[in-house]
Amino acid sequence: MSKNTDNLQVIKVITRERPYDVLVGSNLLDQVGTEVRTAVGGDAAFVVTDTNVGPLYLRRVEQSLADAGYRTVSITIPAGEQHKRLDTFGTIVEAMAEAGLTRSSVVVALGGGVVGDMAGFAAASYMRGVCVVQVPTSLLAMVDSSVGGKTAIDLDAGKNLVGAFHQPSLVLADVGCLSTLHPDVFVDGIGEVVKHAVLADADLFDELAAHPLSQDGDPAYLARIVARNVEIKRNVVAADERELGLRQTLNLGHTIGHAVEAASDFKLGHGHCVAIGLCAVARAAEGLGWCEPGLSTRIERCVEAQGLPIDTDLPHEMLLSFAVRDKKRRASHVNLVVARDIADVDIRSVSVEELARVIELGCASALRRS
Ligand code: GLY
Repeated sequence: MSKNTDNLQVIKVITRERPYDVLVGSNLLDQVGTEVRTAVGGDAAFVVTDTNVGPLYLRRVEQSLADAGYRTVSITIPAGEQHKRLDTFGTIVEAMAEAGLTRSSVVVALGGGVVGDMAGFAAASYMRGVCVVQVPTSLLAMVDSSVGGKTAIDLDAGKNLVGAFHQPSLVLADVGCLSTLHPDVFVDGIGEVVKHAVLADADLFDELAAHPLSQDGDPAYLARIVARNVEIKRNVVAADERELGLRQTLNLGHTIGHAVEAASDFKLGHGHCVAIGLCAVARAAEGLGWCEPGLSTRIERCVEAQGLPIDTDLPHEMLLSFAVRDKKRRASHVNLVVARDIADVDIRSVSVEELARVIELGCASALRRS
């Protein structure tokens, strides 16, 4: 491990596919080459980045890989979820073939969730699977999408409909990258941080309710928060890699959140929608007697403290139609993750009628009160 890396935290992830380390710290981008060399080895490194992140960090990462003896090739894809599609995927895998990559090459995903998903899926598919190293640069990718092996692209029919479970061989999260994020994008990632706290960590929840996270904050503090989130996710993924049971709890806030995201035509960020979903389900759960009294107010205060929205005024019928289209729907029922208390969640199988009631009780509550 490099001595130049500050605030380093190492989280070990054990999955059936492979064990790997998640390194969280400052100045990690300059260590990508040596860390990839140690974790994966190989001859060539293929870096996938996007038009937002490439100009900021690609040269540093390429230099680090070249210094570690890699033949380095890169591709810069257009930034944005609208490009997480088959045609971009095709461009990436064609470029991999053009670069002469083999099974002993490694793909390096340098960017946020979209880059991680696309590069991960390209690595899962090319020659039936090559190693991928995730180098997340957004908060959302650091605390959620870079860990756990989900990779996917979107279809006309919905988000993430084609993909694969493909665990990374290494994850390097350099919290220094957070300072260059657009403030809205940084705050968006906090939606998943609050979700993890509600799911599994009452102390983290209280800390978040009291102190808004700052992208320019103390790097040691940011590294500690990111590392704690990775641990929470690691604990779930290690117990249920393929989302057969426990991993579904990571969908806390997502049933309503995905519906808000789709109904807003993806204009509202994923983390903002998850925050709304967390609050909406908590309000409904309280109305239905499924959770501790006062829980929804506690969650709303924490979400508000972090600068995220707590409600939506999108029409209920529209939200329901998107919520039942969710790919996690099983037959006539939807698995809805409900917090009974902080760090105590339940997966409830709810009918479409019950889901309609949840939306009615949980969404546009402020409008109803006025
Ligand atoms: N983002 C939820 C999961 O990885 O399962």
